[in-house]
Amino acid sequence: MTLEEKVGQMMQLDARDDIEDHVLSTHVGSILHASPDRLELAQRLTAQTRLRIPLIVGEDCIHGHSFWIGATIFPTQLAMAASWNPELIEQVARATAVEVSATGIHWTFSPVLCIARDLRWGRVGETFGEDPFLIGELASAMVRGYQGTGLSDPTAILATAKHFAGYSETQGGRDASEADISMRKLRSWFLPPFERVAREGCRTFMLGYQSIDGVPITVNDWLLNDVLRGEWGYTGTLITDWDNVGRMVWEQQVQPDYAHASAAAVHAGNDMVMTTPGFFRGALDAIELGLLAESDLDAAVARILTLKFELGLFENPRLPDLDRQRASIATSSHTDLNREIARRSVVLLQNDGVLPLPAAEPAPRRIALVGPLIDDAQTQLGDWAGASGQAGWLPDGQPRHMITTVFDGLSTLLPAGWELTANVGAEILRLRPDPSGTNFPDGQPRPPVAIACEPDAELIAAALDAAHAADYVIAVVGDRIELVGEGRSTATLELVGAQIALLDALAATGKPLIVVLMASKPLVLPPSALNAAAIVWVASPGMEGGRAIAELVLGLVEPSGRLPISFARHAGQQPTYYNQIRGQHGDRYADLTQSPAFAFGEGLSYSRVEYSGLRLQQTELNRDGTVTAEITLQNVGSRTAVETVQAYVSDTVTSVSWAFKELKAFRQVTLAAGETAVVTIDVPVAECSVVDARGNRIVEAGEFRMLVGPSSRDDTLLSAGFLVVD
Ligand code: IFM
Repeated sequence: MTLEEKVGQMMQLDARDDIEDHVLSTHVGSILHASPDRLELAQRLTAQTRLRIPLIVGEDCIHGHSFWIGATIFPTQLAMAASWNPELIEQVARATAVEVSATGIHWTFSPVLCIARDLRWGRVGETFGEDPFLIGELASAMVRGYQGTGLSDPTAILATAKHFAGYSETQGGRDASEADISMRKLRSWFLPPFERVAREGCRTFMLGYQSIDGVPITVNDWLLNDVLRGEWGYTGTLITDWDNVGRMVWEQQVQPDYAHASAAAVHAGNDMVMTTPGFFRGALDAIELGLLAESDLDAAVARILTLKFELGLFENPRLPDLDRQRASIATSSHTDLNREIARRSVVLLQNDGVLPLPAAEPAPRRIALVGPLIDDAQTQLGDWAGASGQAGWLPDGQPRHMITTVFDGLSTLLPAGWELTANVGAEILRLRPDPSGTNFPDGQPRPPVAIACEPDAELIAAALDAAHAADYVIAVVGDRIELVGEGRSTATLELVGAQIALLDALAATGKPLIVVLMASKPLVLPPSALNAAAIVWVASPGMEGGRAIAELVLGLVEPSGRLPISFARHAGQQPTYYNQIRGQHGDRYADLTQSPAFAFGEGLSYSRVEYSGLRLQQTELNRDGTVTAEITLQNVGSRTAVETVQAYVSDTVTSVSWAFKELKAFRQVTLAAGETAVVTIDVPVAECSVVDARGNRIVEAGEFRMLVGPSSRDDTLLSAGFLVVD
């Protein structure tokens, strides 16, 4: 290969840009964001290059095939995380891979392994929540699903663990701000999920945008070489995030020019440089200036070519396959799977007994369905779903008929004798235009301002008319797609527009109020919602979300979701994650409790399950032992319950400040009404570790407690002690 061909293989370009010239002159190795016609062009041009090295095509297919009209759009990662169901999530990833691979895409930039601790961050919904163990379990499942039985299988796609690492530990929740994070903190909580998927065989890692301790991740030798490739023995590929190499010059200003930035990125071990066209000239200049040797490129190029060989692209470039698309996109089995994961994504947070709506109640039974999100198909899908108004090329969004909104779901499933009055009031989510009237420094328009509007008396009056005439009021509120995603963090967590005014007015009617919060991330609920008869949360539930909510409300399914992330009572109460370091005397607010509104692991069913008789099979163990806990569950209610038994471990005395408790295992069991079961849960002692002051992960001998129950809330957990001996 010539020097130019090697540099070109390391480049991934945005297919929406001027690729005509680039593919031929810079021999690019990869493209992303390719609509079918751009993909066809890029493949045609690649076939004209001297070596005809096949293109590897990437896309953000993070909960289904984001940018394909009519593909199955599943719930977002945070929504799926509420299922606490790795098996189902693996099936979702497998179905996604089958759909995506038929369209000529070989590589998905998923899963996200960031730990969501600051709810203001716009990308919370893309994560699996706040707990490293749960993230590791669910992300591994996703990697297995994408990569299938092996990359040579034509239905396998490459998985990407992103964003390595600490990207979510933002300042003020602002996306890509410098991560205020120590190496010890990284090793304690942020790295373990990545290590888990590296060992699971995830073949690509994407680097975060931000710096740690002044060093952009793109050139962070310690993280990339010492930890990832060294300690973990990772042999896969590293890809930068969007223009990370250029950003070191024009944004972070830590490199004087593209030659230096390109040299630094190669020396740090990056293989694929995403959307930095200037890398081509930069790398060549770096070689001329002696900042880089041609041989420095070889390892990176070899890793990219290895990936292409592993995918079998040299024999079969895996072009879009119309027959496979017809046979595998949005099949009825994928729709069934989507329904199942959507059902499992819904969390019943509060219920005074109003739910499920009583089928046997005498007529008239009237529901007022109100709120801006009762019939908002594209918002329901969440971001990275080709929704109209978002980055992407589906100007009209996904086809409306493929999406079941709450309105559709209730209208279809409502039994005879019930009446539904719907009042959409989409305008209730209206925001004010940004008063500054300016664009962001990079020219992007600023989104509307997310402050509460003056309540619009007419809109609210219409919703109230429906409410007054009804027996039950269901209000579907949540967030706006413009306030969700990359670069879209929010300073506040309150419901925007006139939604609070709407809920206040509905609550004042005295009618039983069921609040359905469809919000990409936990929001702060106003008192009128917190005092409602029932609260149901689902993040962005995908195409079948409205049906799943209707089924839950009508009692056609058992609620089974559990929170993968805590809900704050106030934006200023951040962070509220459960596994915080044991606090000291002043570690609290004078004006607000420290407890979250709803805690990690919480979620109700329509039945009641009692936990008793926690017993450990061994109470004294060596470091290579496994603690086995047995606990008795009894379903004392009158309906089936799907229970998620959670096991936390608390190390009684640690040599360093440490979390009071951490999730170490969970199991899901289904119990028929009246059924009793003994559930066993294993926790290897090796998992009961801390990261000591020198950064080493060790298990410290001494007393531990196993805490088992239905949520992370201490008052729900039973406890039993065990001893780890030297
Ligand atoms: O994969 C994404 C990443 O998560 C954020 N920046 C852009 C990438 C490619 O679209």
